[in-house]
This record gives sequence, C-alpha cells and structure tokens, in this order.
Amino acid sequence: MPAFNRLAGPATPKPLIEVQSRDLVRIPTGDQELDRVLGGGLVPGCVVLLGGEPGIGKSTLMLQSTMAMAARGMKVLYVGGEESPEQVRMRAERLGELTAQLLILPETNAAAIVECLNRDQPDLLIIDSIQTLYQPAVEAAPGSVSQIRESASLLTAWAKQHSVPTLMVGHITKEGSLAGPKVLEHLVDVVLQFEGERNHAYRMLRANKNRFGSTAELGLYEMLGTGLAAVENPSDVLLGQTDDDLQSGAAVAAALEGARPMLVEVQALVSTAVYGTPQRSGTGFDLRRLNMLLAVLEKRNGFKLASLDVFLNIAGGLRITDPALDLAVIAAILSSALDVPLPVGTAFAGEVGLSGEIRPVARLNQRVAEAARMGIRRLLVSGHGRMDLGSIEGLEIVPVKRVNDLHGVLF
Ligand code: TYD
Ligand code: MG
Repeated sequence: MPAFNRLAGPATPKPLIEVQSRDLVRIPTGDQELDRVLGGGLVPGCVVLLGGEPGIGKSTLMLQSTMAMAARGMKVLYVGGEESPEQVRMRAERLGELTAQLLILPETNAAAIVECLNRDQPDLLIIDSIQTLYQPAVEAAPGSVSQIRESASLLTAWAKQHSVPTLMVGHITKEGSLAGPKVLEHLVDVVLQFEGERNHAYRMLRANKNRFGSTAELGLYEMLGTGLAAVENPSDVLLGQTDDDLQSGAAVAAALEGARPMLVEVQALVSTAVYGTPQRSGTGFDLRRLNMLLAVLEKRNGFKLASLDVFLNIAGGLRITDPALDLAVIAAILSSALDVPLPVGTAFAGEVGLSGEIRPVARLNQRVAEAARMGIRRLLVSGHGRMDLGSIEGLEIVPVKRVNDLHGVLF
C-alpha cells in the first residue's frame, strides 16, 4: 500500500490546499444500476463488499456484471468456494454470452489465491464468498471471524498494490447480523447491501459506505429467469393497483429512497384481534415505527387499537426507510379500519411526529414531479413550513397540519 509506506521516513504534514486532487478513473461495470450506486463505476484498486441474505441474488449480480466486463475485454478472475465451476457455468449460460476472458478458480486458500493472482494478473477480481476463504497461516477454524478478516486483508493488500478492483461477496443473516462482513466494513472502500424479499422479484442495491461516491444512490432490479434487469421507472412497477380498483387499506406514498423518487403502495389490514395480545406486523416497514404511529393514532385520534390486529405491507417486497411514508401508513390504517377506500388519484408525503403533527419532508419538488408524472391528482403534504412549489398542471397540493385533520380531508 504505497500511501502508507513507512520506509520513506516519517510523514510530514502539508497544507491540504497544496495536495493535488486527482480525477478518479472509473471503470464502468456496464450495469447501470451498479454503476449508479458505485458513483459511476469501479475505481482501480477499490475493494467492494457486497452483502446480502443467502439466495437474494449476489452471485447472479456478480456473475452477470463480470460477464459484461469480460465481454468488453477485461480479464476477470472469479474465485468461488461456494459453487462448483460447473454450477457457475450453468448459471452463466442463462445470463449471457461466455468469453475466454472470464477465468474461474475454485479455491478457498487465500494464500493460494494470491499466488494465482501474481501469476495470472487479472484486471478484475471477484470473491464469492469471503466466508469460504481461509488463510493457512492463521490458526482458527475456516469461517471464523479471524479467518475471514485475515483472508480479506491479504486480498485487499494485493488489490491495492496492483490497482485491481475487487468485489467480495459476504452473507448476512436474516437478523441482519453480518457475522463476517461486519468485521470487514472498515477494511474495504465500499459496502453495498443487496436486499429484497426472496419471494418477490424486486431487489434494492444500496451503498452503506462509499469512499469514492455518495451513499444516497439506489439501484433497483427485477429478478427474471435470465438474471437481474434494471428497473428504470420504479413507480411503474411498485404501484400495484390501477385507479379504478383501489381497495380500502391501500394508500400511495410519494417516497424518496436514496436519491430516487418513487410512488409506493402501502397496504394495511386492520382487523379484530382473535387472541388477547393484538398482532402487529410490518413487511418492508420498520415495526417500531409502525408501533409509534399506532400510538399516535390512539392518543391523538382516540382510535381504539388495543383490540385490533394491524398488518402493514409495502408492495413489491421492498424495504422503504423514507420517513415520508408515515402519512400514507396512517391513511392506509384509517382506511382499512373504516373499510372505506381512499379517494382515487391521492398520494401522501409527510412525516408524523409524536404529538400528531405532520412534518415537512425532504425534496418535496422531486416527489411532486414524480406524483404528477404518474397521474396523481391530489398530494397531501405537511401544512407546516415553507412551500415554494409552483403550480403543477393537474395536481392539487393539499397541506395538512395534524393527523386529526386527515379524516376530514379524506373521507
Ligand atoms: P443467487 O445469485 O445464487 O443468490 P446468492 O448468491 O445471494 O445466494 O440467486 C438466488 C436465486 O435467484 C436463485 O434461487 C434463483 C434465482 N435466479 C433467478 O430467478 N433468475 C436467474 O437468472 C438466476 C441466475 C437466478
Ligand atoms: Mg451465491
């Protein structure tokens, strides 16, 4: 690692203003969603960790993007301890054209991998997965934290020395514990997270850390029989229902996930609890947040929820973290509880505070533009704070100040 080379004598401080900034070289992966999340492509010598639950599609994403890079003439070394070369070949055949530039190495000994790297000098290195590697010099069981860390540092050092971009796959368990990957986060330059519900087709790619770009970007894919396809207009696929068959309990949120505006359908089901303790479940939505919103409804709207089950679901199997979803969640719950569908063409964008106030959300302009594009006619937003939105053809902006006002506006 030249930047930390101590043999050159002790480092001396110099004014930051005198430090030359360099334009980063970017190697596009050819996958527009991956490039978007990386900040334009891979940087030479960058080490990227891709985390996600087993079966979510990490190997598919790695293989299909590296096949595209190999097809453009890069020499790719795909190191896999997880699947046999025959299995990888079978998968690759579904994903696209194979080229001689893609080399596969079924090896789990990190020291042996480095030997192979020195001999073959690839332009791109893929490790699938880091959990399967071990370093013979380390006395610990394969799969243990020290084995994962030592193997990863060895390969990271090689990648930095030779300026070869490296992508490592790491498994995360359902509970979100990154048994291996968590210990690697400080070691790598970029940490990507691949998520979604396995029984749904949509996948989200987020950056939890990015030394070479923003972490605000979001990649969206649909898992097809022929691999992962980019989703260019999220609202088109995430809005489950059309205007004329809107059911009670469904509300549309003008959400912003990463830097991407998207209309998302929130579905709530409120029913009488059969057992003593009412059930609460949130799919794609934080359960603590749901409980907080229910408490607000109970306290501020006199809504008796103690004997009701509440189930909440975000259409498409995606996890949305945008607080602007709150208002749509409340509206969906009210609609289901009353069994009255919400007016057609209505969408929501507002955060709900503990005292039942509806708070303004970030980047309202983008949400408004997306709502208008998708044919929304009424957007309910916070009545607090400044609003300098010009008039938008065909879209009425309705400010609402408190959760108690919602009922009057809607029903
Ligand atoms: P995989 O990439 O093996 O997941 P991971 O490496 O994260 O464990 O993909 C898992 C699922 O994706 C697998 O169950 C089958 C499905 N899949 C498709 O639906 N279409 C495809 O083209 C491919 C290659 C996989
Ligand atoms: Mg895999």
